[in-house]
Amino acid sequence: MAILRIRTWGDPVLRQPARPVERVARVHRRLIEDMIDTMRHAPGVGLAAPQVGVSERIFVWEHEGEAGAVINPTVVSLAGEPIDDEEGCLSIPGIFYPVARSEVARIEGTGVDGRPLDLEGKGFLARILQHETDHLDGVLFLDRLSPEDRREALSRLREQALGLPPRSVAPDRGGNGAMDGETL
Ligand code: NI
Repeated sequence: MAILRIRTWGDPVLRQPARPVERVARVHRRLIEDMIDTMRHAPGVGLAAPQVGVSERIFVWEHEGEAGAVINPTVVSLAGEPIDDEEGCLSIPGIFYPVARSEVARIEGTGVDGRPLDLEGKGFLARILQHETDHLDGVLFLDRLSPEDRREALSRLREQALGLPPRSVAPDRGGNGAMDGETL
């Protein structure tokens, strides 16, 4: 078991589209075990390989007592009304904002055993699948915020980078830094 270092906002690996895994090897199975340990330790409910500095198309997830890994995932369908729910990211600590995500997401990819895998998520699992697949394309949840929230989030991130104390925001607003949202 190893806890890997989670890369944070500003690290270029987070913006790089990750490369596909050609053949699932021992190194990937080992990485996936470490990613699951790292996700649980953080704690979070999803983690993509670029977040631990590995630019390969792999993510892990955990939801309602079930956990898994997907290699080379593709979102094959999105359905249902977009739902606005608070979202956070292990690579952007302390920042939570509502993001609109499809209610149902279906993913195809490869499992740890090298076999084809088909996974459908509803509700929060659908959100996790969309958030983690985004990571593999270099997309962060900040990119999906409303222009106003995005402006505010970026200015808070710049203040954090300068070492300024967290700004207080009205408690009914997202982005108040409270750790009540789940982090992906
Ligand atoms: Ni994330």
